[in-house]
Amino acid sequence: MSDTQMIKDKLDIVDVIGEYVQLKPAGTSRKGLCPFHNEKSPSFTVSRDRQAWYCFGCATGGDIFSFIQEIEGMEFLEALKHLANQAGVTLSTGYNKEVGGKRARIKEVLLEAARFFHNFLLVMDGAQEARTYISQRGVDEKTLIEWHVGYIPDQWDLLTKYLLNKGYGIDDLVDAGLTVKREGGAYTSGKGFYDRFRGRIMFPIHGTHGEVVGFTGRVIKSPKEGVGKYLNTPQTAVFDKSAVIFGLHKAKKAIKEAGLAVLVEGQMDVITAHQHGMYNVVASSGTALTAEQITLLKRYTSKIAMAFDSDEAGKKAAKRGIDLAITQGLDVRIIQIPEDMGSDPDDCIRRDSDVWNQVVVQAKDVMDWYFSEAFLTGGVDTPKERQAIANSLLCEIQRIPFAMERDHWINVLADKLVVDPKILREDMKKYTNTTESVSKTVEVVEKKEAILPKSSRIDTLVETLLLLGILYPKLWYSHVQPFFGSFSALSTYGPLYDSLNVCYNISKITTTDALLLLVQKPEIQTQVDMLLIKGEVDFPGITEVDALKEEEVFYKQLVVACKKLEREVLQKQIVAAEQRGDSGQVTALIKDFQNI
Ligand code: UTP
Ligand code: MN
Repeated sequence: MSDTQMIKDKLDIVDVIGEYVQLKPAGTSRKGLCPFHNEKSPSFTVSRDRQAWYCFGCATGGDIFSFIQEIEGMEFLEALKHLANQAGVTLSTGYNKEVGGKRARIKEVLLEAARFFHNFLLVMDGAQEARTYISQRGVDEKTLIEWHVGYIPDQWDLLTKYLLNKGYGIDDLVDAGLTVKREGGAYTSGKGFYDRFRGRIMFPIHGTHGEVVGFTGRVIKSPKEGVGKYLNTPQTAVFDKSAVIFGLHKAKKAIKEAGLAVLVEGQMDVITAHQHGMYNVVASSGTALTAEQITLLKRYTSKIAMAFDSDEAGKKAAKRGIDLAITQGLDVRIIQIPEDMGSDPDDCIRRDSDVWNQVVVQAKDVMDWYFSEAFLTGGVDTPKERQAIANSLLCEIQRIPFAMERDHWINVLADKLVVDPKILREDMKKYTNTTESVSKTVEVVEKKEAILPKSSRIDTLVETLLLLGILYPKLWYSHVQPFFGSFSALSTYGPLYDSLNVCYNISKITTTDALLLLVQKPEIQTQVDMLLIKGEVDFPGITEVDALKEEEVFYKQLVVACKKLEREVLQKQIVAAEQRGDSGQVTALIKDFQNI
């Protein structure tokens, strides 16, 4: 048996995809929001029977391998290795040799560095000051081990030397973001390189599967002028600060279970929260929430509660992320830490973790929060003041992607301002354009609007024609075979038809399973699987008699659509011939036109 087949047999596609997309039963398959394009109602379908996935919105689909490639941005071999690992399948050596590459080497170097930092912190004399600092901050040893926290003393190139000694190449260390090349440094001699992180507590940053992708390091003394309190791994082949969420690998299970992600700003906030038993806490690492981070969170929940610095700068930074999250359909709540409980979740939890638990539960709907902020800062005495409040809130309401919810908040606002909701609705139109531009940029960032172009009308009809002929082979012989020739040039399904028709001609096929046994090529199998998923959704439990009726309807529509297309093509040719002054050609084409 091939490696890929063995992996497919061991893993259930619903489990694999369920890690990334929240799936709900729908007939014999499961459905969820497509992770590859932005949508509000689910058209992403996964079939356990077929071990295949398909999105009706962006017309993409495939098996577990293509899914992992697409969602993790992996090459096929990387995805293969990843899933083999998950399935506990040992790949045949042919594959194993080829897997490797830059990304894999960088991850290996990072893991080695993480071990070095961690061991240094736990056992070395030179880490005494760091251990004291950490325990003063209330972090216990179990937590240190769980989060693999480490330390690197303030020396020039301790780590670089250590890793070179272990046999890693200097270029890999630089590419991993651990080593910096000085001006004049030379790769050939290995001279002129130094450690990026020096004299810092080191927190590994993990990918969603727990692999180390980078670090953030905190100074333990007050930082020198021009030196950041935290220093992060730069952009590398495996690290993109705006796309990672700190702690997600540990928190994802709890987030799913709680149906809520608690989002804080810093590493220390996350670690302290987990130490005190709140496991669904993650951090955006000090930046406003990005579109990539939101997409990542949406794999696990559609509800987030955010805590951020309550000063104006903190609010402003948070607001950008909040707006983006709302536009993407997340239910956003705001956590407010009481003023006397410190300045961030870490402070608050260490003073009284009960208070923290309570403020998380009491987190306000973001609209409620916007309302209270607006009415707190603005008066309602003069028309100008009231208009100012209306303006600021209408702008937020407009961002909500659900009409009913928008209507609710307009009514609340109308009540509070004692004004007719109609007037507010009129006013809100002013903001429509700005919102559109926000959602547009979101789509650009998400970049995967549609991977394949949507199929044309003819393709959709041909697809159904083929599908019914696959469900009931009798129909293939009676309704597909005799007619397909006249459509094949107009549809992209020609090659699929040809491959399947070979099977239908080998022997008289009477069931779908018999057909599938004859289909050899994996890519054809996948295409058939995708069609069958479409069948489960469009024609659940259809009988042969009904399939025959449908087939006739679709066939007729197809004939009409093809004629229409042919006429359009001819019309264009006629216009072109007229412009060229080719009257002979024009007459011939008009004759063709009349013949259709
Ligand atoms: P804060 O300045 O609020 O720090 O930055 P903090 O989380 O409370 O850290 P402690 O408690 O002093 O240790 C919030 C987050 O912003 C990022 C870090 O991820 C930090 O946790 N940050 C901050 C940086 O990336 N660089 C910096 O220089 C400062
Ligand atoms: Mn802090």
